[in-house]
Amino acid sequence: MKSVLVTGGAGFIGSHFLKMMTHHYPHYYFVNLDLLTYAGSLKNIRELENLSNYLFVHGDIGDKELVDKMFEKENFDWVINFAAESHVDRSIQNPRSFLETNVLGTQVLLDVAKKYWQIDHNDKQSHLYRPGVVFLQISTDEVYGSLKESGTFDEESPLLPNSPYAASKASSDLIVRSYYKTYGLPILITRCSNNYGPNQHLEKFIPVVITQAMKDQKIPIYGDGQQIRDWIYVKDHCHALDSVLHQGMVGEVYNISANQELKNIKLAEKILDYLGKPRDLINYVTDRLGHDYRYSMSHQKISQSLGWQSKCHFEQGLKETINWYIGEILNRGYDENF
Ligand SMILES: NC(=O)c1ccc[n+]([C@@H]2O[C@H](COP(=O)([O-])OP(=O)(O)OC[C@H]3O[C@@H](n4cnc5c(N)ncnc54)[C@H](O)[C@@H]3O)[C@@H](O)[C@H]2O)c1
Repeated sequence: MKSVLVTGGAGFIGSHFLKMMTHHYPHYYFVNLDLLTYAGSLKNIRELENLSNYLFVHGDIGDKELVDKMFEKENFDWVINFAAESHVDRSIQNPRSFLETNVLGTQVLLDVAKKYWQIDHNDKQSHLYRPGVVFLQISTDEVYGSLKESGTFDEESPLLPNSPYAASKASSDLIVRSYYKTYGLPILITRCSNNYGPNQHLEKFIPVVITQAMKDQKIPIYGDGQQIRDWIYVKDHCHALDSVLHQGMVGEVYNISANQELKNIKLAEKILDYLGKPRDLINYVTDRLGHDYRYSMSHQKISQSLGWQSKCHFEQGLKETINWYIGEILNRGYDENF
């Protein structure tokens, strides 16, 4: 039996994680704290509503009073922090909200976890925590910055973030690490490559290509489209998180990737071909400021130490994703929030 606080569980990855975990661990209790920003949607978690091992709380991870009350009531064993501002383009327009949620919000969660998990509340220096507690920070390969044609990041690679989004995620990783190093708080950090799958917000690359193509409208591709991303099916990411939570070594960082690198333009063409749409829908637009060229991460550590491997073949996962969006569009029309 574990009591688990999941933040940002109405978003893309968090909602998949909650669906998987509530099903796999019916004897665990999950509380989902989500602010329901433009990126979060209750539609993503509708099937959880009536589960006896699940509760939704509408609120901000940066609201210390609320987070404190939730800890007091639920006595959480695990905190899994998905909540974040997550879109690079928005971070270029408005970096501030990224710092508020991704850095300061994370720090609030850490402070409250530390307060409730420390065995001796009177001794602020104590490194003794309740057995079994852990704070898992969900992070991204973007904290490592950009690669050229060759090379691969591992967990020892320096953090060299380029966008305000990536910088805010790197900052939150570092503040999480500091709570481990300074206070001994049991933490884990995972860094995952680009996720794809159902329920991703329509502003992200794959949903943009699918929905624009279905509407026979131009598909914006940044710069020359030669940028390379390393893709992983969202459910493979969630399985990796399950492994890290149950078997990971406290204080460690685990990179999660499926070694599926693809140029953006090739991916757009693949989607157009699958939908039977012409490639001249592709419209090259001015490149994103500071656009990273290539991401690539080794998954050797998590594979060798925890036995995790991605299962979903990219072609299969992409087809399932495209079919899911087709189904949603046919059911709901082009609703910005699905
Ligand atoms: N999508 C990817 O490819 C990817 C890859 C690696 C890591 N990540 C990380 O995984 C996490 C989840 O990403 P995602 O793609 O599901 O993001 P998302 O934007 O789909 O979801 C974010 C969720 O967080 C909620 N949220 C935002 N601010 C909040 C706040 N202050 N308090 C409470 N809830 C808040 C939103 O309402 C939303 O439900 C993020 O931390 C992101 O950095 C994402």
